[in-house]
Amino acid sequence: MDLKYSLVKDIPGNKSVIYLIRKDNNLSHFAFTRSELKYITEQIKDGEKQISINSYSKWSYIQVIDKETDLDKQYEKCRRAGSKHSLLLKQHKHNEIVLVDAIEEPGLLYAFAEGLVLGNYCFLKYFGDKTEKKHPLKSILIVSDKLNKQEIDVLKTLNEAVYFVRDMINEPLSFMNAVQFSETVKQLGIPGGLSVEVFNKKKIESLKMGGLLGVNRGSIDPPTFTVMEWMPDNAVNKNPLVLVGKGVVFDTGGLSLKPTQNSMDYMKSDMSGAAAVAGVMYAVAQSKIPVKVIGLLPATDNRPDGNAVAPGDVITMYNGMSVEVLNTDAEGRLILADAISYADKYKPELIIDIATLTGSAALAIGRFGIVGMGNAESRYMKSLVHSGNHVHERIVEFPFWEEFDKLLESNIADLKNIAEREAGAITAGKFLEKFTSYPLIHLDIAGSAFLKKANSYQGKGATAIGVRLLFDFIRNFPNLFDKDG
Ligand code: BES
Ligand code: ZN
Ligand code: ZN
Repeated sequence: MDLKYSLVKDIPGNKSVIYLIRKDNNLSHFAFTRSELKYITEQIKDGEKQISINSYSKWSYIQVIDKETDLDKQYEKCRRAGSKHSLLLKQHKHNEIVLVDAIEEPGLLYAFAEGLVLGNYCFLKYFGDKTEKKHPLKSILIVSDKLNKQEIDVLKTLNEAVYFVRDMINEPLSFMNAVQFSETVKQLGIPGGLSVEVFNKKKIESLKMGGLLGVNRGSIDPPTFTVMEWMPDNAVNKNPLVLVGKGVVFDTGGLSLKPTQNSMDYMKSDMSGAAAVAGVMYAVAQSKIPVKVIGLLPATDNRPDGNAVAPGDVITMYNGMSVEVLNTDAEGRLILADAISYADKYKPELIIDIATLTGSAALAIGRFGIVGMGNAESRYMKSLVHSGNHVHERIVEFPFWEEFDKLLESNIADLKNIAEREAGAITAGKFLEKFTSYPLIHLDIAGSAFLKKANSYQGKGATAIGVRLLFDFIRNFPNLFDKDG
């Protein structure tokens, strides 16, 4: 993404500007003519929230933000307003825009700029007329007394992370098999201090990762297991936080084949969790957050083939447990389970996995958020939920009662990989819980990772949900120690 962000002191006279204002702001010290001011005042009185003025050589856009008691709601309104402006900027072919913060409340202009840039995203690689379709914006100048350079750097880094995570998810399987996935992660322009190691099939075999190998058995491409480590010397945590992402680069369901329409057609997005973890690792390292974080990304496609695992087969997982695979479409939990057991070697303070894991989660809350559950101390989930509300990647916590455990008992193995239809999102999480003795939080993003219809700054296609959430959580991680639970 070649977008430049700069913080400037004064509003340049000759450039197009977006003013973020309250309806009662005094605008007379901005360079409007008397008739423009009159027009703006009348429009605001009429309840207009978005006003555009064309002064031939430049445009002025005024965005009114209403006060709201819930600050998180207000941030979200700003993001959505920013996204609307991204369309206007495209329409009027701006390659540069000045954002003026006339409200001076920290965070509002940040949120507006975030919505504007994320709303600007589009995946054009496979179009013939890319240049016409491309948004021309190249440079954002920010005039604000409240935002500092550090915040703007974070904004830039996170936006970059969301862009490349969306790119990775939107790529079809023909360009994004497991090997290409891990190569792409390696080529992210890895910031100093972040290490990336890719295990190939041979190494995965020598580690006996039976879950990942089992799902890969029907594939013509080898699996990969990517390990990302961010272990800064000044970290506040002794034991790292381990993030695990589901990297199923395409999910046909395997021999338990999915029907194509409305089921298999967008399953290139089944690596959204793994892509999000890669994006978070990039952003955390780039912003030098003083928290030890490990990212584990098991990747493969899931296909039927002569050699594919058949329903009823028993496989032996990385941790030695046996699993009766009754449905080969419940493959995500098999590759995640191996990675979650592998996480034990880091003696993690907490494991968080993020995955497009179940249709059940999508059915429960649709595309509006994330289903979360887990067995970690409550302050961790509280902090995650808080971050979710703050960045509007909201989490709803599902129960994790022990009654669910026995639904996974198999007649012939230590576990089976499916339970009953009811509470399917929870039993998937429960399956994962069996593979570690460390605290686990499981995030199911099946409903919100990939949108068939555009939604404001989330756009159409890949949303990269989880990136902004986990980054915010990790940024606030040091504060977790100061709270009493
Ligand atoms: N990748 C799917 C889950 C999914 C569904 C993601 C819809 C995004 C949108 C997963 O591997 C899957 O197929 N899950 C099965 C599990 C079932 C067989 C227990 C499901 O949810 O139907
Ligand atoms: Zn599946
Ligand atoms: Zn899947």
